[in-house]
Amino acid sequence: MTGATRGIGRHAAARLLAEAPRLHLVVLARGTSGEALAESLSRHRDRLTVLEADLLSLDSVRAAADRTAHMLTAGSLPPLRGLLLNGGVQHTSSMVESADGLEATFAVNVLAPHLLIRRLGDHMPEPARIVLTVSDTHFGDLRHNLGLVPGPQWMAPEALARPGAFSSPAGVTAGRTAYSTSKLAAVHLIHEHARRLPPGIVIAGFNPGLVPATGIARSADALSRFAMRWVLPMLALTPLAAMPRTAGRQLARMLLDETPPPDGGYVSRERVVASSAESYDPARERELWDLAERLTAPSAPPA
Ligand SMILES: NC(=O)c1ccc[n+]([C@@H]2O[C@H](COP(=O)([O-])OP(=O)(O)OC[C@H]3O[C@@H](n4cnc5c(N)ncnc54)[C@H](OP(=O)(O)O)[C@@H]3O)[C@@H](O)[C@H]2O)c1
Repeated sequence: MTGATRGIGRHAAARLLAEAPRLHLVVLARGTSGEALAESLSRHRDRLTVLEADLLSLDSVRAAADRTAHMLTAGSLPPLRGLLLNGGVQHTSSMVESADGLEATFAVNVLAPHLLIRRLGDHMPEPARIVLTVSDTHFGDLRHNLGLVPGPQWMAPEALARPGAFSSPAGVTAGRTAYSTSKLAAVHLIHEHARRLPPGIVIAGFNPGLVPATGIARSADALSRFAMRWVLPMLALTPLAAMPRTAGRQLARMLLDETPPPDGGYVSRERVVASSAESYDPARERELWDLAERLTAPSAPPA
């Protein structure tokens, strides 16, 4: 699992360990955040493994995947039945660079999950499930994003992967556009992976809807952070938003429910629905796949 150290994922991780007594959770986390998680889940310590992985660095992600694969092959972990790829970021410009010189939102939200699926998919026995946390901001309309995040703006994947995409790239609108566009890209990749993975390995997207009081807006201005922390949580009393605990429970259910989500499908909170009309585009998905393969190859040239 990625993105287990705070927000929605922290609740999902606790839920997985509490509800599935035979489950062993491998968490990929950066810096000290993995230790802090292990501390808070100490009563499950014997079923929790934390591995260092910075999703902003393809080398770091590759090393964590390879370490996991090695432990699976050596039998020091039980068979890999699920991948929960929940780690994600939103920035206030489209200029933030990853360790590889790529645009940070695209690197964390799109390339890191792609690399983990490619490195670990072959180590998954059938049946197994892969879940990516996506977002209904990929629809780009008022009904789905309440006007909080601008809609996606698709362009050549090569341009999306580089810092400085979108007009006024140093501005907040460009940063949030990079976010919704990265989530559209993640939905596209789910479709392409679904076509390529063996039939017993199901891959699906999970949309938590608006979940205030997580760390996703942590790089936003003080007013937005205040709203996210203190004002928007009131919306969780309405169907417009959910608290992190609720979203975490729903995310955990994506792995735990007896019936798997539909292959290539999109689960919005607890309902299987269609993703945006724009998100079904095999030609675009193929182009994105080719770029993701090229950028995540071990010998990828510097950006
Ligand atoms: N909150 C919402 O309204 C909302 C709506 C739709 C979709 N989502 C999606 O839900 C997922 C979880 O978001 P959240 O709202 O719970 O936000 P959050 O509290 O900020 O959690 C993000 C998680 O991703 C991890 N992460 C980010 N960058 C990383 C990196 N470079 N290396 C390793 N881990 C990294 C964070 O780890 P650290 O603790 O190390 O930072 C954290 O565990 C994201 O994919 C987000 O896009 C959220």
